[in-house]
Amino acid sequence: MTVHGRALRLVLLGPPGAGKGTQAKILEERFGALQISTGDLLRKHVADGTQLGLKAKGYMESGGLVPDDVIVGMMEDRLAGENSFVLDGFPRTVPQAEALDAMLVRLGKPLGAVLLFDADRETLIRRLTGRWTNPRSGATYHAVFNPPKVAGVDDVDGPLVQRPDDTLEVVEKRLATYDAQTAPLIEYYAGTGLLVRIDGLQPIERVTADVLRAVGAADGAPA
Ligand code: AP5
Repeated sequence: MTVHGRALRLVLLGPPGAGKGTQAKILEERFGALQISTGDLLRKHVADGTQLGLKAKGYMESGGLVPDDVIVGMMEDRLAGENSFVLDGFPRTVPQAEALDAMLVRLGKPLGAVLLFDADRETLIRRLTGRWTNPRSGATYHAVFNPPKVAGVDDVDGPLVQRPDDTLEVVEKRLATYDAQTAPLIEYYAGTGLLVRIDGLQPIERVTADVLRAVGAADGAPA
């Protein structure tokens, strides 16, 4: 997909619960921009019982990060052949960001922007512990902030579940992992001129409006 003739290549950065997946899905629906979520890819591997999934499961359940070499290998396969993409949850460490830079140079596909979403810790915890997820599509709802028409059921296709890593105990570990291993990416990308800060505390539609402004599609230009 393109916005005014430009390929859309974005990284969505921010702590768990900041709204990366929600906005990536909206960009996908509105522009056909391919959402590539490392979390969704890993959950599929876990559900399918692949070697990669078996390796990743323990890290995910404990709120830690899956090792960089596993993630980078998975993303190299996924990015080849894609011209436009919205990266949701990758990169998450400085070595992953360096590997992504090298991949995109090889592919001749530079990033357009890195959107940083943020919200305070209390809000992040409230969002994650109230989140309901469609395990088939990765679509998310929230019991209070974004409820489905019928509680526990996706508006489009079948039952919703609560993710096993959305318990308070694991959420707190995920937030600590973010602070220690992913937050340094803010400085990494600030130096590239690609970083755009978005206030993730706003209601979903207002966040979307800021995202569209940041990618130059504030007028809702068609894909
Ligand atoms: P992943 O699935 O990527 O989880 P995450 O980064 O922790 O992000 P989340 O999906 O929890 O949050 P989000 O920002 O997408 O929020 P959402 O839009 O859903 O990763 C899971 C695990 O996989 C990791 O812990 C790690 O182990 C592993 N992993 C993944 N990638 C990896 C990598 N690159 N390297 C190593 N390991 C990796 O919103 C949250 C809730 O809030 C929803 O209910 C939503 O409806 C609601 N909401 C959203 N926006 C708003 C708003 N503006 N106002 C009110 N409510 C809102």
